[in-house]
Amino acid sequence: MARRVREARVYSEIVPSTMPVAEMLAKNPKAIILSGGPSSVYAEGAPTVDRALFEAGVPVFGMCYGFQLMATTLGGTVDDNGAREYGRTALTVSQPGSTLFEGTPVDQSVWMSHGDACSAAPEGFTVSASTDVVPVAAFENDEKRLYGVQYHPEVLHSTHGQQVLEHFLYRGAGIEPTWTTGNVIEEQVALIREQVGSKRAICGLSGGVDSAVAAALVQKAIGSQLTCVYVDHGLMRQGETEQVEKDFVAATGVQLKVVDAEKRFLDALAGVSDPEQKRKIIGREFIRVFEQAQAEIIAEGGEDVAFLVQGTLYPDVVESGGGSGTANIKSHHNVGGLPDDIEFELVEPLRQLFKDEVRMVGAQLGLPDEIVQRQPFPGPGLGIRIVGEVTKERLDLLREADAIAREELTAAGLDRSIWQCPVVLLADVRSVGVQGDGRTYGHPIVLRPVSSEDAMTADWTRMPYDVLAKISTRITNEVADVNRVVLDVTSKPPGTIEWE
Ligand code: XMP
Repeated sequence: MARRVREARVYSEIVPSTMPVAEMLAKNPKAIILSGGPSSVYAEGAPTVDRALFEAGVPVFGMCYGFQLMATTLGGTVDDNGAREYGRTALTVSQPGSTLFEGTPVDQSVWMSHGDACSAAPEGFTVSASTDVVPVAAFENDEKRLYGVQYHPEVLHSTHGQQVLEHFLYRGAGIEPTWTTGNVIEEQVALIREQVGSKRAICGLSGGVDSAVAAALVQKAIGSQLTCVYVDHGLMRQGETEQVEKDFVAATGVQLKVVDAEKRFLDALAGVSDPEQKRKIIGREFIRVFEQAQAEIIAEGGEDVAFLVQGTLYPDVVESGGGSGTANIKSHHNVGGLPDDIEFELVEPLRQLFKDEVRMVGAQLGLPDEIVQRQPFPGPGLGIRIVGEVTKERLDLLREADAIAREELTAAGLDRSIWQCPVVLLADVRSVGVQGDGRTYGHPIVLRPVSSEDAMTADWTRMPYDVLAKISTRITNEVADVNRVVLDVTSKPPGTIEWE
């Protein structure tokens, strides 16, 4: 939702629902959006809202849970009558000329994800849309500048969601669309210089877009005070280490230190199958390796390294349960996985940005397309793409399968149209197959091609069958111990992009 607001060229920030209203108002917001959330408004301990929020004269837009909270707080009715709706739903607009819906069709597709439903709007509100199941799917009060929708306008499957959101921002709240990523660089360079001063920093480079852009930004700010450290944790894909050494250094001229830490990571991961535990271990080992690199850099140069640069993005912060009331979906290795005894101060210049904004910043910094347009790859690497224990043999097997999939996707010209395509090994699953004249009992490989704009939501990519067939044939023929290739056809939500 926050990203959609920025796409409408309005700056946005997420604050926890527990923040006192006075504190929110002290930030002088031009509008407030009450987001969706995992609870029922009637659940014990569910986030609540102070009525004063609606009486402060600041325009408010509630969506999903926020909509229901708004309804109950202002005297409307929300009941848990089993009226559940999940996924794509047909919405009928009953007030086509309203502030929210003007210029959008009477029948439109929206994305729903709720249990309870609003059956009566608060007094003074006009009901402007409904569905077959929910009589009040949107309401508006122009006089008080309060608006709400039951669905998720921020999701692409809500065909006119962005338009409705912009109507709220521009028409309902009267905000001018003026925010861009252009000023982010200048602002961040100044902030980094102030934070780091004359000290030195190191940056963990993963070869991905985020750490590359973070490093380039910090290098612009503090130049040779920065050393990049690339940890080869043995969880990388084929050819990745060589690519980082070659492409990134060529593009930025940054000082790069490569650390071979494969054994260390694999030893730490031995016997571990739980995804959260894997993520925590990988996060912890990363930091330890950095500390080691720090010691070596000090030994080489004699100066203290006080800062660690990380390419943490806003979705990482949000999805790691950045505020109370949000569900902890996964501990991203660069946020929730940090150990308590961390010795560095963090520099996270991309912490407020979304992926597409990071790409824009990268391009503005002069990084080449091969880096800026790369498909996302998670920090914990293939470690979270093996369902089950991570071992060297399994990694090698997955690397082979992944290389085949990537090669064929590139050959088919699909790199740009697919957001990313995790290739996952179900190491604890075996199935019976037949190859040559013999029975096999091998592992399945999952292909997870997804289309997305920011990884917060995604849909599975309808890839050409012939490309899928080629990948499947090649993997089952060329990769020992794999006798089946399956396609993941789940959107996010309810699935996440990665399997762990
Ligand atoms: P999920 O699986 O949560 O992934 O839908 C959303 C996006 O984030 C990437 N991802 C990560 N990136 N560290 C990262 O740097 C992580 O721990 C991590 N986990 C997931 C994932 O590949 C997708 O693009």
